[in-house]
Amino acid sequence: MSAAPRTDENVIPAEDVTRWHAAIADELRAAFEAVLPVGKYTMGSQLAAFEMEFAAACGTRHAIGISSGTAALHLALLALDVGPGDEVITVPNTYVATAFAVTYTGALPVFVDVDPVTANMDPARLAAAVTERTRAILPVHLYGAAADVEAIRTAAPGIALLEDAAHAHGATLRGRPVGSLGEAAAFSFYPTKVLGALGDGGALTTGDEALAARLSELRYMGQRRVKHEHETLGYQERLDELQAAFLRVKLRDLDEQLVGRRRVALRYGEWLAGTPVVPPAHDPTGRHAYYMYTVLAPDREALVAHLERSGIRTQLIYPRLVPDQGAYRDHPWRAADDLAVARSLVPRLLCLPMFAELTDAEVDRVGRAIRDFYGVG
Ligand SMILES: Cc1ncc(COP(=O)(O)O)c(C=O)c1O
Repeated sequence: MSAAPRTDENVIPAEDVTRWHAAIADELRAAFEAVLPVGKYTMGSQLAAFEMEFAAACGTRHAIGISSGTAALHLALLALDVGPGDEVITVPNTYVATAFAVTYTGALPVFVDVDPVTANMDPARLAAAVTERTRAILPVHLYGAAADVEAIRTAAPGIALLEDAAHAHGATLRGRPVGSLGEAAAFSFYPTKVLGALGDGGALTTGDEALAARLSELRYMGQRRVKHEHETLGYQERLDELQAAFLRVKLRDLDEQLVGRRRVALRYGEWLAGTPVVPPAHDPTGRHAYYMYTVLAPDREALVAHLERSGIRTQLIYPRLVPDQGAYRDHPWRAADDLAVARSLVPRLLCLPMFAELTDAEVDRVGRAIRDFYGVG
């Protein structure tokens, strides 16, 4: 059985995990072979080992494997005692899961505007958004760049902070790893994420022992240690053994992946110099995971069409603000301000192809096509 990557000489995909998987196919097969004969496919030794390794990678004491990033957010909010009557402040320019998780608990998602340069939660807006009902702050490390959690904490002291780290495996904020910055952090291992499983998966990290114990119970039907004893109303949201085994293989490559993504980002930056396209903000004191390389491009629709004709695929992440989604016609939410910055970014944002295995020649093809479109030599 071949694990050759998907290739079409003429097309540069927006994202592609098959090249990485082709390079590590033997190790992934060995991981499968290791799990198969054991017969224990949930809550086994692979999960325990992955949790230790992932906690270490995030500079935290505890990691808890969860079935998806969405479930991780939901369980973390429950463990932080978020429920009906509470408010959770988050950003509007995220995947719906961030806000849905708040809504699942019965609490109210409160959207606050973002910084025009980083597109992350704007700490300057936060103080005005906090009310006596605010139970948690939920910033997203958008595109792989850490939100300024330190400034957020200063603006909202004493309120629990949950990181949505679904985009930001391996990123740092002023040298401190994402996943260690809040009371807890939620990761997604959706296949195309910087660290992705071969199916759905997620994790929570925390430095708080009691919170970790609570999360372990919540993800496995409220079971503490003894089988058939269910202490709280829990959920069936475990990360399975096969995914844990695959993730252990891939975690070993995470640093190398980040180096590859950064190489692509730096090369794009050179091509974009002198064009009207604004590259992503880069904070030299931290590490960007470059889950997405998101630019602001004038005349975006025409540029997308030009790139399509050139065999270059792009994505829009996210093309619609969460409070503008149909789901929030039927569920309550509140905007803390006019969300004007987030709204102004939507028509210009564009995610260029980004994955660690993009070749220099492919990046150059993208860069050349963009320069041609804007008529800069
Ligand atoms: C910012 C953000 N939060 C949460 C999630 C939810 O993760 P999952 O798809 O694993 O449920 C995602 C996944 O796309 C995401 O991008």
